[in-house]
Amino acid sequence: MMFTLVILSVFLCSAASGDLSGRNKDSCVSRCGEHVNHNYNCQCNSACVTHGDCCSDYNLCQSDSSCKGRCSETYNSRNPCHCNAKCSQYHNCCQDYSSLCGGSHSGASFTNEEILTISEQLYSLDTNKATENDVHLNLQNSVPNSQTGAKIDHAQQRLFAYVNEEVLFSKPTFAAFIALLNNYNRMTGISEKFTMEQLEEQDVFISEVMKTAVMDKLYRILLSKKMYNSMVEFEEDLKKMWFGLYSRSSNVLDSSGFEHIFSGEVKRGKVSGFHSWIHFYLAEKNGELNYYSYSYNGPWINYPDVLALQFNWNGYFKQVGSEFVGSSPEFDFAIFTLCFIAKPNSSCTVRLGGNTMKIQTYTWTKSTYGNGKKYVASAFPLTP
Ligand SMILES: *[C@@H]1O[C@H](CO)[C@@H](O)[C@H](O)[C@H]1NC(C)=O
Repeated sequence: MMFTLVILSVFLCSAASGDLSGRNKDSCVSRCGEHVNHNYNCQCNSACVTHGDCCSDYNLCQSDSSCKGRCSETYNSRNPCHCNAKCSQYHNCCQDYSSLCGGSHSGASFTNEEILTISEQLYSLDTNKATENDVHLNLQNSVPNSQTGAKIDHAQQRLFAYVNEEVLFSKPTFAAFIALLNNYNRMTGISEKFTMEQLEEQDVFISEVMKTAVMDKLYRILLSKKMYNSMVEFEEDLKKMWFGLYSRSSNVLDSSGFEHIFSGEVKRGKVSGFHSWIHFYLAEKNGELNYYSYSYNGPWINYPDVLALQFNWNGYFKQVGSEFVGSSPEFDFAIFTLCFIAKPNSSCTVRLGGNTMKIQTYTWTKSTYGNGKKYVASAFPLTP
């Protein structure tokens, strides 16, 4: 403390002595970011914007158009670009706003019509999805919405009568997705621990999905909206948003968006999350999952279709597990990411093959990453 005071007083004395080193009293030349100095007529650090005492050439301090040190500053029309929460809405954020200030998942820059168009494009680009010959369903009995909680097994046989594993699961994104499914402890309250190999599997999944037309399309849209500035930035954010750990129970890092949605969890004696047809199929095949009934079957004739299912996963019941069926992993990942970014924590109307439907997303509220960005808490088809 004493030391700091000495330094400070030395600094103040030298400033007070009026040594301007030949600098202009009205200019920011060579003064960008310096402490308030009343020997000058105007100031050149970011606080001057709030105090209204910036030099007229303060812009030159921001010639790199950066949000460095400016996150959440109040709006000032003198700045060439902005770093406050509304800049994405007004399309005037500085280039590095999302990476430095964590402002990307604000949702403000998508109209409902845009989301319909984009989702339809993602749907049509999903060339890795199953054909009718690749997946045969045996739906058996349905139950009305009012009876989904009855826990009665209305299905003698499996839901998946046939899946063409050879063709589908050899595709790189399917293989990378399946490799991730067994990396989790499904019980909340037990912390997740990853080996180097498992962390590598997360990277492989992201890099494989990014090679697909579906994710490339989503990336290009977010790029055009200046939500991300490069593929690397988008990939890094996807990893944190989907794989970053947080705590659902007992203050241990026991969960992530990916685990919850695709692998599934057990919380308070019930299945929580679990919205992946691929995981459903594999668990059913391995005898870990018993299909009971369905309560919704979407209007699609081809895959992907949407189902709401009742099932028992090794002793734990799921009342309404809604999921895309026959879609590729990149499609689920892209459509959920789109809705999470465009309409976070709410229902998002998408159009797929001419049919509209809703996807519900939830943001995790108890912890954040990178300066206030939200983790994915959940995402799933909202069935009527
Ligand atoms: C998201 O929605 C839930 C439930 O509607 C609400 O409790 C939560 O506060 C919301 N989170 C945010 C960040 O708005």
